[in-house]
Amino acid sequence: MKELPDYLLKQNLKSPLIVTDPVVASLPFFTEIRNHLTQKGIVVGVFSDIHKNPVKSDIYKGAEAFDQTQRDSIIGIGGGAALDVARAIALRIHHREDLFVYDDLIGGDVNVTNDVPHFITIPTTAGTGSEVGRSAIIADDETHQKKILFSPKLLAKIVFADPMLTMDLPAAVTAATGMDALTHNMEAFLAKMNHPLCEGIALEGIRLIHESIEKAVNKPDIESRSKMLIASLMGAVAFQKGLGVVHSLAHPLSSLLDTHHGLANAVNLPYGMEFNVAGFENKFKRIARTLDLKSENGEAVVNYLFDLNSKIKIPHRLRDIGVQENHIETLSDLAIQDFAHPNNPKPVSREDFKMLYTKAL
Ligand SMILES: NC(=O)c1ccc[n+]([C@@H]2O[C@H](COP(=O)([O-])OP(=O)(O)OC[C@H]3O[C@@H](n4cnc5c(N)ncnc54)[C@H](O)[C@@H]3O)[C@@H](O)[C@H]2O)c1
Ligand SMILES: [Fe+2]
Repeated sequence: MKELPDYLLKQNLKSPLIVTDPVVASLPFFTEIRNHLTQKGIVVGVFSDIHKNPVKSDIYKGAEAFDQTQRDSIIGIGGGAALDVARAIALRIHHREDLFVYDDLIGGDVNVTNDVPHFITIPTTAGTGSEVGRSAIIADDETHQKKILFSPKLLAKIVFADPMLTMDLPAAVTAATGMDALTHNMEAFLAKMNHPLCEGIALEGIRLIHESIEKAVNKPDIESRSKMLIASLMGAVAFQKGLGVVHSLAHPLSSLLDTHHGLANAVNLPYGMEFNVAGFENKFKRIARTLDLKSENGEAVVNYLFDLNSKIKIPHRLRDIGVQENHIETLSDLAIQDFAHPNNPKPVSREDFKMLYTKAL
């Protein structure tokens, strides 16, 4: 946090737009960051008028704020949502077609041809790893359909990952976002593509989360917060290899019921992993070893995940986070269309999704 002003001055940047969410904007560390910048003569603008699940008009308003006050750079400070908005605003500055022309799912990444302003990310949750990402998930204001804006140009120039900013993260947010990070590392390790570098990073990410998540949730200290922050960043690096069945189970819960992304993953994780064990026993043995489990097998990993959820107060059942039996058909329709499961180590059918939702209900 303290390195930021000198970094900006060295880059000759004197007028950044900070993009954040209204909650983060009200926290003491945010005021501190602003003060550090102002003291060094940097003229700061703040844009925090964003939705919990960001929409296109948030991006247009942010780009207007950038133009009107003639900013020279963008600093995203916050959780995955705020960082997504910051990244999408960075895209919008020199790409003024309709925002969804750049939707990656329709091949829109090829339209990202111009430069992007100097873009910096500062995570304040330890979960999505969006600080090291190249994509932003933004929804349509009316239809709420989520679009993915993607381009290697959207990678931050630098990430300031400071665990001090996560010290006061509430326990429930720490638990949900931390389980998102664990899901990234586990799904990336198992994903079917051959990518030994990502697998090494994923295993070490799993080990760091195993060592620190309970403490970070129940009795946080700087060490547990540091380990969670680096492990979440590692998860997002590792999942360049791919994700899997758990993310495809989770995404429909967010679009249909507005469930927090991390919480949706956390509840589904043990069930998704149980589904993956048969045929991949060796990989589960390696996960079990990383977790220091007595029995080095998939069953022990699944039991560990249920136990962990209990210890950090995450429910074991979907019914406890608002899912009802009559949601299952629609959820299964959405899950089968999701982009994550084609990288799962084994194929997942619509029937499998229905079975998994029913089991977890
Ligand atoms: N770009 C990607 O690849 C990608 C991947 C997955 C998810 N996402 C997006 O990320 C979002 C989820 O991100 P998230 O899990 O970080 O949640 P979030 O950004 O919604 O933050 C969760 C809550 O914690 C608050 N908060 C953040 N930092 C805080 C702090 N230090 N102290 C106290 N409160 C704090 C926020 O204001 C918010 O209310 C979703 O919108 C999702 O679409 C993006
Ligand atoms: Fe995720």
